[in-house]
This record gives sequence, C-alpha cells and structure tokens, in this order.
Amino acid sequence: MTKRFGILAYPAKHSLSPLIHNEAFKMLNIDAEYGVFEVDEYGLAEFMNRVKHEPIDGLSVSLPHKETIMLYLDVVDDDAKKIGAVNTVVNRGGFLYGYNTDYLGSNMALEEVVGSLKGKNVSVLGAGGATRAIVYGLLKAGANVGIYNRSETKAHELADEFAGMFGVDVKSGSLENVVAGDILIQATSVWIKTPELKIEEFIDNEVIDKFEVIMDIIYKPRITPLLKRAEEMKKKIITGDKMFIYQALPQFKLLTEQKAPKAAMENILTKNLL
Ligand code: ATR
Repeated sequence: MTKRFGILAYPAKHSLSPLIHNEAFKMLNIDAEYGVFEVDEYGLAEFMNRVKHEPIDGLSVSLPHKETIMLYLDVVDDDAKKIGAVNTVVNRGGFLYGYNTDYLGSNMALEEVVGSLKGKNVSVLGAGGATRAIVYGLLKAGANVGIYNRSETKAHELADEFAGMFGVDVKSGSLENVVAGDILIQATSVWIKTPELKIEEFIDNEVIDKFEVIMDIIYKPRITPLLKRAEEMKKKIITGDKMFIYQALPQFKLLTEQKAPKAAMENILTKNLL
C-alpha cells in the first residue's frame, strides 16, 4: 500500500518539504506520496485523529504546531521534550511518536563549515522556537553559547533555562550587547516579518565584525541582508537552505527507515531556490 506523508503547517502551501521528500521517494523507488496538510490551530485535534486512524504514516511539522502537537502524541523523545518542540511525527501501528531534527540540521550545517563545535563560541540572535532547537544542539555538541534578543528579558529567561538543563553558563543580552565569538547565528523571523528592513536597522557592522562565520536560518531569500553584508565584509557565510536540508535528512530516515539521498534532495532544492 502507498505510504502517506506530508507537511503539517499553517500556512503550508509554499513549503518546499514536498519537493525534496517526493524527489527522494522517486530516487529510492519508495511507494509513497508526500502532500500538504494545511491545518490551522482550530483544526489540529480533528486532523490528529485522522492521522491515527486513516492512517497517515508520518508528518513534518512546522509553524504554528511544533509545540501544541505534543498533546496528541503517544511518545515524545527526550531531545524533543527538552527543546519543547516536535518537527517530525511517525505513526507506528496507530501509536504516534514525536522527534525533533531541527537541532541536528543546525549542527550539521555548522559542522560542515567549522568542523567540531566543541569549545566554539557561538552567539545566537533571537529567543523564539527556532533558537531553542539551535541552542540545544550547540550545547549538546559542547559549544559555548550566548543568546541575544530584541526583548532582552526573553533572552535571559531562555539562557537560564538551558544553563540549568546542561549545567553550564549561557550568556544573554540585547542585540546591542552581543559578545564576540567564532560564529554568529541569525535565528529571528526578521526577514520574514520585515523583508525590507535595512541591515543597519537590525544590527551594527561592528557586531558582524566580531565573528568569522555568519549563519542565517532564513532561506527565502537565500542571501539575506545579513549574509549580503557579511559577504561584503569577507566573512564565511552559511545560508538557511543548509539547515533546512539537513533537518530533512534525519527526518526522512525517521519517516521511511531508509537513508536519505542527500545529493538528489539538495539538487532539487537548489534548483527551486535560484
Ligand atoms: P520562531 O518560533 O520562528 O523562532 P517566534 O517565537 O515568533 O518565532 O520568535 C521570533 C523571534 O524573532 C523573536 O526572538 C523576536 O524578537 P522579540 O522577542 O523581541 O519579539 C525576533 N524578531 C522578530 N522581528 C524582529 C525584528 N524586526 N528585530 C529583531 N528581532 C525580531
């Protein structure tokens, strides 16, 4: 029987997940289809009932459901629990299992460029859901982390929570007080919410200049205003499509129990982001 997977999100129509997962099914001759489940907050309970009974074999989960979906799962793995968010659901015989591969995605995107993250000094901008997964991955890999946010209190709260979880010091502050380090990660939704914002209005050149490597998690546009400025300043940059593709590889493995065809998935994504 044809297996059924899909992206659960709202909005979901422009997601690139169907493109890369369907390409992988084609490459590996897997009898499966990956669709779009555009479901809002109010429809989630009914939809999750469908997943269990129809059945739908697995899901990628995106905004706004990454946290609330946990209410409908039978088992949530330890990493996802600590992050407080699930981006992957697997239906095993009517039992729903939740995982988070976002932190693996950010770690892989970084390690590809800088090697081991152990002992690296990393400053993360933002204090939302994306930051939670990224910071978790960084601390798990042994990096030293600082969290900086427009609303400073949120940065302090998040830093305290993760400091307690890992038993390490986590720095925090406002976007004006970013401490120098090896890597700067942009994990706010600034380019989604205000794509026209000038880089100077978001962050000073002096902050960018405190780092060797700059990563932005936004992949539309691929070269964000921050990455454009970082390139001009001769920094190494990591584009957001890297984190997107690298969270999808372990996700594909969870959904299908087969190794993801990395090159094929990367190629089709690149073609569609040009
Ligand atoms: P997500 O779950 O995708 O991370 P979120 O929880 O809505 O999204 O968090 C959005 C993050 O982007 C927040 O850290 C937000 O900062 P505030 O806590 O101060 O709101 C940040 N953000 C959004 N627009 C921003 C902007 N124009 N400048 C700076 N930070 C911005």
